[in-house]
Amino acid sequence: MKQEFQLTGVQADSAFFRFEERNEFAPELVMDVLRGRLLGVIFHDVIPEDAKKETVARFWGSPGLLRRDGEPSYCIGSYHWNKSTERYLEDAVKTADSVLNVLDVPNSPWHSFRSAMAEELARYGAGIRIAEHEGAQASAALIRAWDKEGSFALDPHEDEAQCKDPRQAGFEIQRAADHEICAVNMCVEQEEGGRLVVWNIRPDDDSRRALGIEHTGFSYPAETLEEFDVMHLDIRSGDVYVFNGRHVHAVDTCKGKRTNVSFLMGFVDERSVVTWT
Ligand SMILES: [Fe+2]
Repeated sequence: MKQEFQLTGVQADSAFFRFEERNEFAPELVMDVLRGRLLGVIFHDVIPEDAKKETVARFWGSPGLLRRDGEPSYCIGSYHWNKSTERYLEDAVKTADSVLNVLDVPNSPWHSFRSAMAEELARYGAGIRIAEHEGAQASAALIRAWDKEGSFALDPHEDEAQCKDPRQAGFEIQRAADHEICAVNMCVEQEEGGRLVVWNIRPDDDSRRALGIEHTGFSYPAETLEEFDVMHLDIRSGDVYVFNGRHVHAVDTCKGKRTNVSFLMGFVDERSVVTWT
């Protein structure tokens, strides 16, 4: 890559560029992330032991477990990244039973999160639901275990560019790009390392085009990020964390298994928060 390349975009002020950390779930802080008032929040050790164990057992024992090569990991579920809407929704249907089997555990963190957010959003006359397109539903979650070697288990990227893919024109998730795009992660298994890394830069389209990642946001070479403020956040098994995915982020090196239940989430209008994967 050319030496003179300069990554440009928006840098947030210090009032925004920070994580809140709590030992119990607080839906109002998730609202702050959804509303663009806060970069992120980590709720430590909020997933019950039995739910973690059962989720992990069902994940690794699932006949639906797939190997994903582009972004080395094991996963169950579908992702819209770099696909047409039709292809994504077809994949979502095919994987739905396997996904629901992993989510429907006793004391499920997925169900707990959504019911708590539904209650919080109802105070503002809003709701949360899975994204839809012409009667078909997005995936409820993507369950992933990263195992890529190198300095990052998941390379630096952002979650906004993928919401501008012309192959997904008309899919309601594209309207989330007018609000905030929030990544929700529930860590059910964690051995060593695997911190969440977030840089204080929301890249612009010129930078994406120059890097050839206009509609994928994946990935940003480490040297393009050196000049920006960065945060490293320790994540442990049992943690639920939510952050603004428009900022470049990564998972750094980990040893062993790091398994997460995840989805993306955002307002698409004043009354609706939708989720997708
Ligand atoms: Fe991401």
